[in-house]
Amino acid sequence: MNEAFLRACNGEAVRPVPVWLMRQAGRYLPAYQEVRKKIDFLTLCKTPELAAKVTIQPVDILGVDAAILFSDILIPLECMGIGLDFHEGRGPVLNPPVRTEQDIERLHPIDPDADVSFVLETIRILRKELSGKVPLIGFSGAPFTLATYMIEGGTSKSFVNTKRMLFESPHLFSRLMDLLTEVVLSYIKAQIKAGAQAIQVFDTWAGILTREDYKRHALPYVTRIFKGLEGSGVPFIYFVFNGGHVLEIVRDSGAEVIGLDWRTDIKTAISRLGPDAIVQGNLDPGALFLPEHELRSRVDSVLRQGREAKAHIFNLGHGIMPEIPPEKARLLVELVHELSS
Ligand code: CP3
Repeated sequence: MNEAFLRACNGEAVRPVPVWLMRQAGRYLPAYQEVRKKIDFLTLCKTPELAAKVTIQPVDILGVDAAILFSDILIPLECMGIGLDFHEGRGPVLNPPVRTEQDIERLHPIDPDADVSFVLETIRILRKELSGKVPLIGFSGAPFTLATYMIEGGTSKSFVNTKRMLFESPHLFSRLMDLLTEVVLSYIKAQIKAGAQAIQVFDTWAGILTREDYKRHALPYVTRIFKGLEGSGVPFIYFVFNGGHVLEIVRDSGAEVIGLDWRTDIKTAISRLGPDAIVQGNLDPGALFLPEHELRSRVDSVLRQGREAKAHIFNLGHGIMPEIPPEKARLLVELVHELSS
C-alpha cells in the first residue's frame, strides 16, 4: 500500500509529498455526475456500494495518496432527530432549526451501529477495495460547526441565531455542544472500528468566533473528542476554515495534523505553531484556474514553505470547486509529486 500519507501524519518528512484534495469526490468529476444523475445526494451517501464507488473515483482518476470516505458532515445530525435535506443550488436544510430548550430536548444521542450502519458498511467495503492502494480517511464535523447548521437550519452569512444562543442562553448552547460532542465521539469511534485509517475533523465555521470565544466555546469540545480517542492508533487532522486568528489555540486541540486554509501561508503558520507542527494544505482552490506555469510556481511555493514543518501533506485550502476541469486537478497532483521528489 501507498503509506506516504499515513507516514506524513505520523511526522515523517515524506518525499514525494503526499497529496489529497478536500471534496475530491464530487461534481467536478464527470464520473461522479454519471452516478448522481440517477440518485439524489443523500441516497447516494446511504448506498454503500455507490458511496464506495465515488470514493474511489478520484483515487483512480487523479492519483491522490489518500481516499476520503464519501459522506457528509451533516449525516449524523439526521439520526439525532432533526430533518435533513439537500436542495439543488440552496445547500443543506435542517428542519426544524434548534433554538429553544424544547428543541434541544427533542434531540438524542446516536447509536452508530444502528443509525449510520451504511457509513460503517461503506468503510468496510472501501478497506477491501482500497487494499494495496491508498489509506482511507474518515471524518466528522466538529461540534461548533454542526451546532451552527442545527441552530441556523442551514448555511448562514451572519450566524445571527448561533451568536444569539451563545450569548443570550449560554447554558442552552453548552447543552447542545455537550450532546454533539457525545455524538461526534461515538461516530468517530465507530468509523475507526470499521476501518478508517485517519480522521479529519472539519470546523468550517469556528472561524466566526473571536479568539477568546473560540477558546471557551469551541476548542474544549474538540479537545474532549481527541482525548476520548487517545490510544485508537489513528492520526487526527483538525481543520478550522478561516481560522488564521486562532492558530496558536488550535495547536492545543490534541490533533496530530493541523489543516490550513489558503489565507495563512504555511511559513507564517509554522512560525506560530512551532517547527514541530505537522501541517496539511493549503493552495488557494481558485489557483486551479491559473495557466499551468503559474499553477506550477504556486505549488512550488506551498511545497517550499511546507519544508519548514516537521511534515507536510499537500491539499487545497478548502474544497475543490465544481467548475474545475478534472485534468487540472490531475495536473495538480502530478505537479506536487514531481516538484517534491
Ligand atoms: O471530500 C470528499 O470528497 C468527501 C465527501 C464530503 C462531502 N462533504 C460531500 C459533499 C465531505 C468531507 C464533506 C464535508 C462537508 N459538508 C463540510 C466540511 C467541509 C467544508 O466544505 O468546509 C461541510 C460544511 C458540509 C456541508 C455541505 N454539504 C454543504 C454546505 C453542501 C452544499 C454545498 C455544495 O457544494 O453543494 C453539501 C453537499 C455536498 N457534500 C456535496 C458533496 C459532494 C454536493 C452534493 C451534490 O450535489 O452532489
